[in-house]
Amino acid sequence: MRFSPARDRAKRAELGFFLLWLRRPGRVGALVPSGRALATSMAARIDVHAPGVVVELGGGTGSITEAILAAGTAPQDLVVVEHEAKLCAVLATRFPHIQVLQGDARDLKNLLEKTGIGPVKTVVSGLPLLSMDDRDCQRIVAGAFSVLPPRGEFLQFTYGPASPVSRQTRSSLGIAGRRSDWILYNLPPATVWRFHRNPAPASIRAA
Ligand SMILES: C[S@@+](CC[C@H](N)C(=O)[O-])C[C@H]1O[C@@H](n2cnc3c(N)ncnc32)[C@H](O)[C@@H]1O
Repeated sequence: MRFSPARDRAKRAELGFFLLWLRRPGRVGALVPSGRALATSMAARIDVHAPGVVVELGGGTGSITEAILAAGTAPQDLVVVEHEAKLCAVLATRFPHIQVLQGDARDLKNLLEKTGIGPVKTVVSGLPLLSMDDRDCQRIVAGAFSVLPPRGEFLQFTYGPASPVSRQTRSSLGIAGRRSDWILYNLPPATVWRFHRNPAPASIRAA
């Protein structure tokens, strides 16, 4: 096996993630970072030619961040929000040219306004939405759609069979979601979901 400093850093980051999970399982949400296949699938949904920045929520040690950059997003067009200080430090070391915001994804709009970041084209989330209470989940998804353009997408993976955003939240925010990919080669297997606003009724569109 060949060793490189980047691979070595990634391995150390994975170990750090696991140790953090041991201490704060509820806050971190997963035992191990997303695998490459899942991260690549998430990143593939981003239109790299569209204008605007990509916001990643819950960057962890950067598995999805790395895939987003590999898929063609320029580092200056990627903003990662992560609430754990240690993970923010890992992200900033691994990806010195992206913007890492230490903060709570529930306050996304404020975080972006305070730092003057925007416009946003896509929000990619690695947050453990299903282990959050529905009010927090709704606040996060509403915050994401408040910064997205009309046709912008919120991408989220989940390990369970059901939508990671509840029916109640979908209907109160006027959004819909669809499964876009199922990744068997992930621990555990995961599904990628794409959420977008429901189109306005024709009567409103015509007005
Ligand atoms: C399941 S891990 C995913 C990490 C990485 N994106 C991946 O796929 O490997 C969830 C990450 O979200 C972060 N997180 C959880 N709740 C958060 C919140 N409210 N605001 C910001 N980050 C949060 C955790 O610290 C953790 O790094």
